[in-house]
Amino acid sequence: MNKPKTILVTNALPYANGPIHLGHMLEHIQSDIWVRYERAVGNKVFYVCGDDCHGTPVMIKAAAQGITPEQMIEKAGQSHRADLQGFLIHYDNYYRTHSPENEKFSSEMYLKAKEKGYIITKKISQLYDPVKNMFLPDRFVKGTCPRCGAKDQYGDNCEVCGATYEPTDLKDAYSTVSGAKPVLKESVHYFFDLPKAHDFLQDFIHNTDVLQKEMGNKLDEWFKAGLKPWDISRDSPYFGFKIPGTEDKFFYVWMDAPVGYLASLKNYCDKNGIDFAPFTDPKSDIEMVHFIGKDILYFHSLFWPATLMAAGMKLPSHIFVHGYVTVDGAKMSKSRGTFIKAATYLKFLKPESLRYYFASKMSNQVTDVDLSLDDFMAKVNSDIVGKVVNLASRTAGFIAKRFDGRLAAAPYNPELLGRIAQVRKAVMAGYESRNYGDAVRAVMEFADEANRYIDKEAPWVIAKEQGQEQKLQQVCTDGLNLFRALITFLSPILPEVAKNAAEFLNDPLAFDEADKPLYDHVINRFKPLYQRIERSQIDAMIEASKEDLKAAKAVSAPQAQTADSAYEPLQSEITIDDFSKVDLRVGTITKAEEVKEARKLLKLEVDIGFARRQVFAGLKQAYKDPAALVGRKVILVANLKPRQMKFGLSEGMVTAAGPGQDQIFLLGVDDGARNGDRVH
Ligand code: 2FM
Ligand code: ZN
Repeated sequence: MNKPKTILVTNALPYANGPIHLGHMLEHIQSDIWVRYERAVGNKVFYVCGDDCHGTPVMIKAAAQGITPEQMIEKAGQSHRADLQGFLIHYDNYYRTHSPENEKFSSEMYLKAKEKGYIITKKISQLYDPVKNMFLPDRFVKGTCPRCGAKDQYGDNCEVCGATYEPTDLKDAYSTVSGAKPVLKESVHYFFDLPKAHDFLQDFIHNTDVLQKEMGNKLDEWFKAGLKPWDISRDSPYFGFKIPGTEDKFFYVWMDAPVGYLASLKNYCDKNGIDFAPFTDPKSDIEMVHFIGKDILYFHSLFWPATLMAAGMKLPSHIFVHGYVTVDGAKMSKSRGTFIKAATYLKFLKPESLRYYFASKMSNQVTDVDLSLDDFMAKVNSDIVGKVVNLASRTAGFIAKRFDGRLAAAPYNPELLGRIAQVRKAVMAGYESRNYGDAVRAVMEFADEANRYIDKEAPWVIAKEQGQEQKLQQVCTDGLNLFRALITFLSPILPEVAKNAAEFLNDPLAFDEADKPLYDHVINRFKPLYQRIERSQIDAMIEASKEDLKAAKAVSAPQAQTADSAYEPLQSEITIDDFSKVDLRVGTITKAEEVKEARKLLKLEVDIGFARRQVFAGLKQAYKDPAALVGRKVILVANLKPRQMKFGLSEGMVTAAGPGQDQIFLLGVDDGARNGDRVH
């Protein structure tokens, strides 16, 4: 093995003003798996996180609840910690940005930047709430959209027509804090001179492997648009750290948030007698790795390295960016019950089911990960229960009953056992590169082989034959050694199952020992390691998530930002060329039947003139009598890449609108349009 590395791994810090939901969990799971893997192969990892505490939303929400921001942080910290533990995410330290360590580091970094000429001041005009005597961030101003006239739109963009604008452009603007009409007021702000760091940033982004390629391209767009000085100050009242040398200016939350990574680590080092200095020393070979979502790329790849550079500190070694979570192919939605809080999930389902499902779909690309609920259930049941655990449950009993728990002294199928090292190579490459889907695939392909072998040898048949004792012991030993390898390889994803399997096998399940099977070794009694997911658990979770929304609406003050909009927010703007890539065709439904095992799906056949397409559509709840759909004209997305679903191939998508469940309405076309006509 190469020389062990020391790596600081961070996960984006959740805001203290809201609960952790499955969108957050993708990243915590991604980073936790990586950390467990890196440790399993001998690297030294420091894994930290904490709550992001500062800013106006925390201040306002705490006030609305009649508590201090500090009390709110305390509450959030407790519930976030519990959620993360529930998902088996084991940070070395889960701290907070509102801490003495963070204030010290943020101030020091600011002063260094100032000394080097990176801080400039400018007078700016902003909307001000004359009743609450506070400047209003864009999200705290609402009014009528200057473009489409929609009422109650936020100060930065319209959720109805998608226009973006300045808060001062809104008509009939009002403060969401007091309801008062805002006035314009001037104030001096402090800026970090980002353009001055232009050449450094270009070099940092392009001449290193810090970022995925596609993110480098995204950054190029920002460079092209031109870097602008970054406003790092906010006026009082603001919940944050006071800027040194000022009376009433505070660091903007995004200035001290990433510094919170280092503050969390420092707090950990101090508690454990570890030398912190090398973690910020540019000359040390410690790696600093940040896991983040694509929405906060700008902060991590421009502002953060620029402030570190100005302070003469170590720069990030890697910024691993991931996409968003969707549920059943759509943005998580509070009204549909798919905005699922971590705590709500944990009431109904096991943490490792989600860890496994996300892992099976994760790559090192910045693509979104869809939690398709039917597929989630099918995959967990078939893979974890049906393929991995089943291997042990079908063989362990014979070893216990017939051989006193002792494994055979030699394998029956040395060739198959000899393949473990090769599988391990593929698995390790998958984890190391964060292509967890590849690692899972390699494990499951091997699990299929192992199960085929056990099916073929059928120990339950051998057990009934005379004089076949040795063969029985050897085949079952093979089954258990194959199980041991599989569960070792899955241990970063399924830590609890692996822990129980280790107890059962009486073995530490080390990665580098997986290819050295256990022989003549005594194991413990087998206990069930995993249970199947039932559909009723998922349904109950969705219902409970809808209840969560009702509860949140009931307690939230009218101005608090928790209510769900009645509309899905607009997707980001596309050009006419982008749109013309979508090939929409008129079609007629020629067959329609329900998919019995699926909660939502109908199986349709659609005639689009030049072809007939099989489509699985989530219309079951809205169209209870599928036969009535036959003959209906629809609009089909005809060039959608075919998707292999559990129930068959889906070769397109019928278009429909509506909030979901039984409120989905198929789009149609006036009489006269022929099947196959293109929609313009
Ligand atoms: O976007 C967010 O949820 C932020 N609270 C992430 C902060 S990450 C780091 F910079 F602190
Ligand atoms: Zn509008």
